[in-house]
Amino acid sequence: MLQLEGIDAGYAGTQVLWDVALEAKQGAMTVIVGPNGAGKSTVLKVINGLLRPTRGKVLFQGNDITRRPAHERTEAGISSCPEGRRLFPQLTVEANLRLGAYAKRARGSADETLEYVYRLFPRLRERAHLKTIRLSGGEQQMVGIGRALMAKPLLLILDEPSLGLAPKTVSEIFQKVRELREGGLTLLLVEQNAYQALRIADFGYVMQEGRIVNAGPPDRLLDLEDLRKAYFAIP
Ligand SMILES: Nc1ncnc2c1ncn2[C@@H]1O[C@H](COP(=O)(O)OP(=O)(O)OP(=O)(O)O)[C@@H](O)[C@H]1O
Ligand SMILES: [Mg+2]
Repeated sequence: MLQLEGIDAGYAGTQVLWDVALEAKQGAMTVIVGPNGAGKSTVLKVINGLLRPTRGKVLFQGNDITRRPAHERTEAGISSCPEGRRLFPQLTVEANLRLGAYAKRARGSADETLEYVYRLFPRLRERAHLKTIRLSGGEQQMVGIGRALMAKPLLLILDEPSLGLAPKTVSEIFQKVRELREGGLTLLLVEQNAYQALRIADFGYVMQEGRIVNAGPPDRLLDLEDLRKAYFAIP
C-alpha cells in the first residue's frame, strides 16, 4: 500500500535519513522501532508530506506522492496521530475528535465515524463533553487515535502511542491498536517500546542513526541479540 524508496531527508542542510526504504502492506501492521533520535518521526513526516525528501520516492497505492502536499495525502487516505498527540487541551473531547473529520473524504460521514470511535473507546463517550486537558494521559492518547480515525484513513500512522503511559495503559492502547488491525485497517506504528510493538506487528523495521539496519518478521527481530541488548525492555 505504501512504499518508500531510497529516501534521503533532513533539516536545514543536516541530513537525518539515509537511503530509507520500507513498505507497509495492505491489511498488515508494520512497526518501525529504534532508539531516541534514530529518525523514526522524520520518516513519518516524509510520509505525511510535512518534510520534502532530498532524494527518493514515496508511493501510495501505486501513485507517486513524493511531491504532493500534506492535505492531498489526507484526502488520499493517510492519517496520523503525531508524537505527543497535539490535541487542543481547552476543547472538549468531541470537538477534538470532530476536527479530525475536516477532510472531504470524511466530512459527510463524521457522525457515523464518531459513533465508531466511541464504540472503540467507550471511555471517550463518557467524557465527550469534558475539556481534553482533564483526561488522563491514556485517555488523551485515545483521543489522538480517535481523531486520526475520524479522517477515515486507509493507512493509520501512530507515532509512539505508548510514550509516557503507565504499563497497564500501554497494554490497553496496544490492545485497541490490535483490534483496529483485526478490523482490516492498515497500520504503521513507530515505537521505542520495541518489545511490545513487535509482539503485535506483522513486519518490523529497525532504525538506527537515520538508516534501516534490520527488517523482518517480528519473531526474527525479537531473537536478534543486538536488538535485545539495545532495548532493555526485551527480556
Ligand atoms: N525540526 C527539526 N529540526 C532540526 N532537527 C530535527 C528536527 N526534528 C528532528 N531533528 C533531528 O533529527 C534526528 C532524528 O529525529 P527524529 O525526531 O526523527 O527521531 P525519532 O527516532 O523520532 O526519536 P524519538 O524516539 O526521540 O522520537 C535527531 O537528530 C533530531 O535532533
Ligand atoms: Mg519521534
